[in-house]
Amino acid sequence: MSHNSFGHLFRITTFGESHGPALGAIVDGCPPGIELTEADIQGFLDKRRPGQSRFTTQRQEPDAVKILSGVFADPSGRQVTTGTPIALLIENTDQRSKDYGDIAEKYRPGHADYAYDAKYGIRDYRGGGRSSARETAARVAAGAVARKVIAGVTIRGALVQMGPHKIDRARFDWAEADSNPLFCPDAEAVARWADYLDDVRKSGSSIGAVIEVVAEGVPAGWGAPIYGKLDSDLASAFMSINAVKGVEIGAGFAAAALSGEDNADEMRAGPDGQPVFLSNQAGGVLGGISTGQPIVARFAVKPTSSILTPRRTIARSGEETEIVTKGRHDPCVGIRAVPVGEAMMAIVLADHFLRHRGQVGGGGSACCDPDRLTIKE
Ligand SMILES: Cc1cc2nc3c(=O)[nH]c(=O)nc-3n(C[C@H](O)[C@H](O)[C@H](O)COP(=O)(O)O)c2cc1C
Repeated sequence: MSHNSFGHLFRITTFGESHGPALGAIVDGCPPGIELTEADIQGFLDKRRPGQSRFTTQRQEPDAVKILSGVFADPSGRQVTTGTPIALLIENTDQRSKDYGDIAEKYRPGHADYAYDAKYGIRDYRGGGRSSARETAARVAAGAVARKVIAGVTIRGALVQMGPHKIDRARFDWAEADSNPLFCPDAEAVARWADYLDDVRKSGSSIGAVIEVVAEGVPAGWGAPIYGKLDSDLASAFMSINAVKGVEIGAGFAAAALSGEDNADEMRAGPDGQPVFLSNQAGGVLGGISTGQPIVARFAVKPTSSILTPRRTIARSGEETEIVTKGRHDPCVGIRAVPVGEAMMAIVLADHFLRHRGQVGGGGSACCDPDRLTIKE
């Protein structure tokens, strides 16, 4: 099974299965001299960790990360990156493989079971193996390293839609998103969404969601035209998360219904001579290159396919049958996808920061002030 790596100069490779002994990531291309400890990574893993509220799977995993390589004490005693591959390990401690006996022989509609068998003829059915969301823990760990590479950039994510229920944008508050278990930025929506999700969960069903991820502090100039577009790499990054079925940048699909006047972000000259955009329909990217505006992306996550409602399916033998998926599942995978989306944004931006340096470096280009192209802590 190839294709376990993502990125160019900042490149991650993830490994491991849901019910194997451990999973993790190798981060290749992280520059040397960046302070990095396990504590820098653990906070982000804690945000994704299962079993923290009744709204996510009850699997209890500490998701404690170990840094196995790529760091060393500098002359002042700080633990810093050395520029060599950084291996990150997270042990699985709460596997319960017997829950998955039924899935060994039957395909869950909406899950990857049939497609994996059709392609490989062998499948680790315990928890979905590689198709399990456990893989996303490795991405979150790697994303924490990426954040350190682009330390001047702030990346935040929130759940902006659960099932048919959208937030009121007038009440969007990042601090609120950080303070409730649904990562919902609209304080008034939280209780309603919680009741709604309780009903979904108790009925044995599941629901989808939309996640918004915003990066602030990205200077103009990251990304490249055509095949190196920042927005196409972001779309690829979000689409690679299990259960994601759609990605938007800026106005996204709504842009199709806008007039040219409403869609184009008008510009004025700011006090420091830098442009000021009067809107951000572009989501901070034009021609595949960042404009200096916040990078705004959204992705849609489908409802969990492992549900307690009996569904028609076939067995490996080809016989028609029914399946009820027991075990511990997220009723709304979108919730834990929030930190995963943040991590993928960080990984793409760290990669583009290094690729940008490789193209124009400190020398800058005719229209770009090199100072604005360098991330400073
Ligand atoms: C954070 C997260 C948690 C998930 N939890 C579950 C789960 O508990 N049960 C399940 O059936 N699928 C879960 N999924 C989705 C499956 O991994 C995914 O649907 C499956 O691999 C099939 O891939 P696809 O949906 O991309 O086609 C989760 C996905 C994410 C991102």
